Amino acid sequence: MLQLRDGQAPATAIYRADYEAPAWWIDTVDLTFDLDPAKTRVLSKMRVRRNPEVPAQALRLDGDELNLARVMVNGGGTSFKMDGDQLVLENLPEGNEPVELEIFTTCAPIKNTKLMGLYVSEDTFFTQCEAEGFRRITYFLDRPDVMAMYTVTLRANKAQYPVLLSNGNLVESGDLDDGRHFAKWVDPHKKPSYLFALVAGNLVAREQKIKSRAGRDHLLQVYVRPGDLEKTEHAMNSLMHSVAWDEARFGLSLDLDRFMIVATSDFNMGAMENKGLNIFNTKYVLASQATATDTDYANIESVVGHEYFHNWTGDRVTCRDWFQLSLKEGLTVFRDQEFSMDMAGTASARAVKRIDDVRVLRTVQFPEDAGPMAHPVRPDSYIEINNFYTVTIYEKGAEVVRMQHNLVGREGFAKGMKLYFERHDGQAVTCDDFSQAIADANPDSPLAQHLQQFRRWYSQAGTPVLKAVGQYDADARTYTLTLSQSCAPTVGQAEKLPFVIPVQMGLLTASGQPIALQLQGEDAAQAVASRMLVLTEAEQRFVFSNVNEAPVPSLLRSFSAPVVLEHEFSDADLLTLLAHDSDPFNQWEASQRLGLRYALKAIAASGDANAEILPADFIEAMRRVLRDDKLDAAFKDLVLTLPSESYIAEQLAEVDPQRVHAVREAMILQLASALQPEWEAAWEANRDTGAYRPDHVSAGRRALAGRALSMLCLQAARTGDTVWPGKAYQRCKDAGNMTDRMAALSALVYSASPLAEQALQRFHALFKQDALVLDKWFALQGAASDRGGDVLPAVKALMKHADFQIKNPNRARSLIFSYCNNAGAFHRADAAGYVFWADRVIEIDGINPQVASRLARVMDRWKKLAEPYRSAAREAIARVAAKPDLSNDVREVITRALA
Ligand code: BES
Ligand code: ZN
Repeated sequence: MLQLRDGQAPATAIYRADYEAPAWWIDTVDLTFDLDPAKTRVLSKMRVRRNPEVPAQALRLDGDELNLARVMVNGGGTSFKMDGDQLVLENLPEGNEPVELEIFTTCAPIKNTKLMGLYVSEDTFFTQCEAEGFRRITYFLDRPDVMAMYTVTLRANKAQYPVLLSNGNLVESGDLDDGRHFAKWVDPHKKPSYLFALVAGNLVAREQKIKSRAGRDHLLQVYVRPGDLEKTEHAMNSLMHSVAWDEARFGLSLDLDRFMIVATSDFNMGAMENKGLNIFNTKYVLASQATATDTDYANIESVVGHEYFHNWTGDRVTCRDWFQLSLKEGLTVFRDQEFSMDMAGTASARAVKRIDDVRVLRTVQFPEDAGPMAHPVRPDSYIEINNFYTVTIYEKGAEVVRMQHNLVGREGFAKGMKLYFERHDGQAVTCDDFSQAIADANPDSPLAQHLQQFRRWYSQAGTPVLKAVGQYDADARTYTLTLSQSCAPTVGQAEKLPFVIPVQMGLLTASGQPIALQLQGEDAAQAVASRMLVLTEAEQRFVFSNVNEAPVPSLLRSFSAPVVLEHEFSDADLLTLLAHDSDPFNQWEASQRLGLRYALKAIAASGDANAEILPADFIEAMRRVLRDDKLDAAFKDLVLTLPSESYIAEQLAEVDPQRVHAVREAMILQLASALQPEWEAAWEANRDTGAYRPDHVSAGRRALAGRALSMLCLQAARTGDTVWPGKAYQRCKDAGNMTDRMAALSALVYSASPLAEQALQRFHALFKQDALVLDKWFALQGAASDRGGDVLPAVKALMKHADFQIKNPNRARSLIFSYCNNAGAFHRADAAGYVFWADRVIEIDGINPQVASRLARVMDRWKKLAEPYRSAAREAIARVAAKPDLSNDVREVITRALA
């Protein structure tokens, strides 16, 4: 029998089709907190009323791990009962008059290791309410379609908690007796409970006054612990840019006098968009050139943007229910991606950002969509909602928004957004409402024409395969492109109907010249070099006229749809695209197709993985890329990055992870050795980027220099040369910024240099005071190469390190997750990696189910593993499943994995 933890509801699925409007509304809520780590008292006064559109029902309020002290109705006592975690009030006054409800509860923030609800981190109180954390603070209708006006009074010891924050505006504050003080906050906007937040502690703020385009004054604040203030400049700049961008691009202004960001080092996720009081993981706030890498700087910009953009796409218009999560997350990821691209500036920098985003989609989301956790962008059911904050909801959701953007055009999309807010401001709505608004604002667009069919992107899981076959007819001078689509079955969805697939494309001559695209029946004068075909059928033919030679097709430019494109490109076709395509995405894509092709060939061949895998013409093409003065360094770096092991593995029916790893490593070694002069030149040209600025051009140069150094150290390890490791060691000592320092350290670790250990020790000594840098130090060792010896024993030893804390999610992720994602070291024939994984999932589940459940997902694709890995993996997963008191979070992931 399934055993349950104290007070835990049994794991039952919740279905989208079962949605019902709430039987009660909560119009206002007045909360008073007496903050105490061991016992915080919460008084909630609510004005509730029946929803006249729903048959009369009892009021059922959600709760979780609360101590209930008192319930009052209209100032008097009342009867109530408990039904599991719910507080049920059956005898409330009849009729539609508002009812005053008063609930007094207590909770224990210091014991809250789940980091959901009210918790303490480094002597500071924080809340995290999305998705269902508010019920851990007080009894409530904890669902996003119940939107209320909030008044919040915080009371706490003034010396320990000098700063008291909540959503909205500070209306009153002052001293109380016993050394305590209070602050009263009123949020001028109604909101769902998941957007509630409070913070109390000893914090300092960077402040910035700004005036909006509309002429309104605002105060921006970034709160951190004393001592971290110098590291908030970039976050503040990112926030100011975000405010300006949303006004300029979408006409969306800040609707608050005060907008606050607060950083905490104990946080399950990256950041949270609570109304007017965003709470962030320190990782996405704190940066200095000495402690943060270029990637950190870029992430801070995009996460600050993301949470800020939620103020409209999430807070003003929110989700009707959690099945609609992508309504806010997919849309807001699309917006943060566009923000980052607009900030990056040049066409090349935009393409680099696009490539980065597509790489995440393909290496993480495609496997998810083919595995046991596959679900549509708008899921139909879930057991634990926290398991559905996935790359499908986020990244595929953003691609689905991007397709709508492309189907109506940039201006059309802006018009659609405007209509969306006109219709739905202040409401809790659905994904259908969103696409309806975009389509209605663009009645002549292909989106409006195919809206019902387009919506299959929301309802059908799985990655469609787009097959393209080209046929050239020299006599007729026509090129016929036959596009067909299919989508493999996913859990619960055996049959898929055709999607609407926008295919941005062009045709090139063999020498790389663009060909004017004239579909049969069209006017030659209107021919362009790039256009969008819209595939709506299972199979469609497009015939191009006036084509003078057999063309090389450039398909799915800018990755215009989240599909797998199959086309029988010859090596020569791909080399043409790599060298000449006007679409930088497809230039890069050509390099990846070639790399993937050689990897798959070598994996299938039975021979030694160390044989030469890459043919000479590919090496020469890479040499030309490295030498090309016209290409951006960041772009070169991406072209020279081979497809990831996980992406390669996805192409295989059965995966021997060690074989995949060995082949990819051999390919890297080959590039290191064959291109040594070019790597040396790239290092020399880019190793000094002057005074540090995290801009795209200099960041790209540092990335390329870092890769060059890594390649040179790798080659040195083979030849026994000591010069390059020596240079890397020197760089670890005297680098002027963390990007260069980290690149050098990682070059030593990755090449298993004898200098690595000493460099790691020095690095630790230098940064032992800085938690975020220590995370990097742990992560690097978890991701270390097996070349340097067994990684697992080193990881186990690091778990005993004085600086390791499994309760801190960032630290747990840095060592444990980074090891479990280190395929070459994790997949061991002796199963020790899997045993370690199972032990950690179980251990962390007792502390923080959300973090444990993310770790559990590392084994999603175990069924594809070859023996002996598969049996060993099954055994490890079954051992986790056998634990009687697993959280719902882990149980759902493990059950699906074994199904
Ligand atoms: N709303 C989420 C934060 C969240 C996620 C809360 C899951 C509760 C459960 C926030 O807007 C978000 O999406 N954060 C991302 C970062 C973002 C830049 C994609 C995160 O935390 O990973
Ligand atoms: Zn979000």
